[in-house]
Amino acid sequence: MLILGIDTSCDDTSASVVEDGAKIISNIVSTQDEIHKKYGGIVPELASRRHIEMILPVVDEALNKAKLRFKDISAIAVCQGPGLIGSLLVGVCFAKSISYFNKLPLVAVNHLEGHIFSSFLEDPLPEFPFIALIVSGGHTNIYRVNSFGLYKEISRTRDDAAGEAFDKVAKLLGLGYPGGPLIDALSEKGNPETIHFPRPFVDKSFDFSFSGLKTSVLNYVKKNPNAKKEDVAASFQLAIIDVIVTKTIEAAKKEHINGIVLGGGVSANKALRRRMEEIAHKEKIKVYLLPPYLCTDNAAMIAAAGFYHFKEKDFANFDLNPKAYLPL
Ligand code: KG4
Ligand code: ZN
Repeated sequence: MLILGIDTSCDDTSASVVEDGAKIISNIVSTQDEIHKKYGGIVPELASRRHIEMILPVVDEALNKAKLRFKDISAIAVCQGPGLIGSLLVGVCFAKSISYFNKLPLVAVNHLEGHIFSSFLEDPLPEFPFIALIVSGGHTNIYRVNSFGLYKEISRTRDDAAGEAFDKVAKLLGLGYPGGPLIDALSEKGNPETIHFPRPFVDKSFDFSFSGLKTSVLNYVKKNPNAKKEDVAASFQLAIIDVIVTKTIEAAKKEHINGIVLGGGVSANKALRRRMEEIAHKEKIKVYLLPPYLCTDNAAMIAAAGFYHFKEKDFANFDLNPKAYLPL
């Protein structure tokens, strides 16, 4: 079963062909980093305009690379949300058009579900039930995944997402955009014990809150303009990782689950991966880590999750609309 996946939820235009929800045949991602870099963040209007320019060539390339045509495809899976509404609109409209024209079934996929099902594109496959930590530019959520379609949200962020905090701290340190990978690289050269930034634990809850941490980095930098950026970056990174890892492990223990899947751009972070594996190992919990290209946004994960919707005959109609806010 070959599914063509499409994701235009944020600032990457992506299309991918995946076989049986597990094997990537092609996966094309056209990033817009160059466009948004000079603004230090994503400009939604520029993002949607670029998606319009790129959607056709990206889908074409995904099919060409797979040496396939529309007639070989079983269904089109498109990301319906959450994300930037103008960006989502481009992918959804395009998917509806090619589905109509080529008489192919259409399935709608939640972007967060896609990040969870990224883990089914790599061996070893996670076993249900598992805990999924989705840490991205827009989300920091912990789910209990009982099976396909059965998700229980354990926690979410009450303000900034982890990736947002990485990007904002990188901006205030003058590092550039996107900030997460830059802080990741710079931190490897710094001492994370230099500054003790607060660990924002929200009492009696697995919820997250990162806006205070970001403000304390800002205050520190204002007071200490000559501080080594490497040390500030590494100390901030350790604080955020401490909270994420502790809460995820505690959630797994509370739910009596011994498998944790990581997804979303921030899960590409080297220090986070090391720390999660180290603590999980002590607790006899298995951690499923993905290669960085499957952590960040990609359409293979949409095709992977789309395969399960297809199997369950959960088809979308042509009145499908994108949704900026779409809880799982
Ligand atoms: O999942 P993703 O590609 O898009 C969203 O769904 O948001 O995540 C993008 C986020 C950005 O905030 C980016 O800075 C962050 O993931 N990110 C990282 C790393 N790579 C990407 N954050 C920390 N360390 C990284 N290596
Ligand atoms: Zn994402």
